[in-house]
Amino acid sequence: MSASNSEQDIGRYIDPLFSDAVIRWQKQHGRHTLPWQNTRDPYRVWLSEIMLQQTQVTAVIPYYQKFMARFPDLQSLAEAASEDVMSHWAGLGYYTRARNLHRCAQRVMAEHGGIFPRDPLLLEDLPGIGRSTAAAIAAFSYGVRAAILDGNVKRVFARVFGIDGYPGTKLIEVPMWQRAVALLPEQGVESYTQGLMDLGATLCTRSKPSCTLCPLAQRCVALATNRVAELPVRKPKKTIPEKQTGMLVIVDRDQVLLEQRPDSGIWGGLLSLPEFDMEQDILSSVTRLSAPFGVVASCEPLQSFQHVFTHFKLQISPFEIKLERRLNMAAQSSYIWYSAEKLMDAPLPAPVKKLLLAVFRQNDLF
Ligand code: ADE
Repeated sequence: MSASNSEQDIGRYIDPLFSDAVIRWQKQHGRHTLPWQNTRDPYRVWLSEIMLQQTQVTAVIPYYQKFMARFPDLQSLAEAASEDVMSHWAGLGYYTRARNLHRCAQRVMAEHGGIFPRDPLLLEDLPGIGRSTAAAIAAFSYGVRAAILDGNVKRVFARVFGIDGYPGTKLIEVPMWQRAVALLPEQGVESYTQGLMDLGATLCTRSKPSCTLCPLAQRCVALATNRVAELPVRKPKKTIPEKQTGMLVIVDRDQVLLEQRPDSGIWGGLLSLPEFDMEQDILSSVTRLSAPFGVVASCEPLQSFQHVFTHFKLQISPFEIKLERRLNMAAQSSYIWYSAEKLMDAPLPAPVKKLLLAVFRQNDLF
């Protein structure tokens, strides 16, 4: 019977010298005295792995110690009030982790008799535990041969194996998992797992890697091809559309003309400056918009600037208009004259308020 494609792929990745190098380096140069090390207690291992998700060791240590002092075992955590759990997490960030941690403790008590399972697939079924965390817990608590692949390990693999493409996509991640599985050592999974984490955190860092000290330097494709700074490929930036708008700062003595914006759309319901389409002829737009309010004495372009919304960027080009003779507005108009002194309290979008304060300051009105 022939091997399946994925078995062939995994076979291609097997390389015992890789894990040998990592394990030897970990024993000599890795971290051995972190508060959650030198124990096989699954509760301590699990707590530390959850705290270490997206958070650096130095930030975690004091939280881990306070947490262990207040909740020394799984039962005490499972039985605690959720406010008590949350207050011991406060400041560590990503609070879904704390809610999942509490739920996970209760499920292990209820479904596993208070003992964390050793099978990574069962661990992965618990709240807050993904594939990589499940493997770390199984490896550190029970010596189970299971592969981790967190952000640090992805960086090490991307560089050592010269893997192009952003590792957040399935296209890159699936074969990376295959590699991670194929590279597992027969013996010493704890040192190997800790070694990969330590390499990623201490030598193979994102911006200042210490390649001269790295046990994988001789086999590192990125180092050999001078691409250490480029790999792993960063998350592609979403290109968000850019729009343009012209804004009129129509000033008459100490007052500026504001317009009530419609309830829907950006800045819905706020006051703002009258706007016009920059694609059209600017002078005729300015003249047409200003005409109901008075005779234009001067029109000066001000410094344009960008305001970034979640879904688009707005390039704002303001024009300062001075009036010669002001005309009275119709009573039902959506326009309103606003004095400089009331501006601070006006319901204005932040960039518009900033612009107006600058204009009034320039005119010595503020
Ligand atoms: N990051 C994730 N797990 C870790 C661990 N056990 N030790 C150090 N850093 C880690």
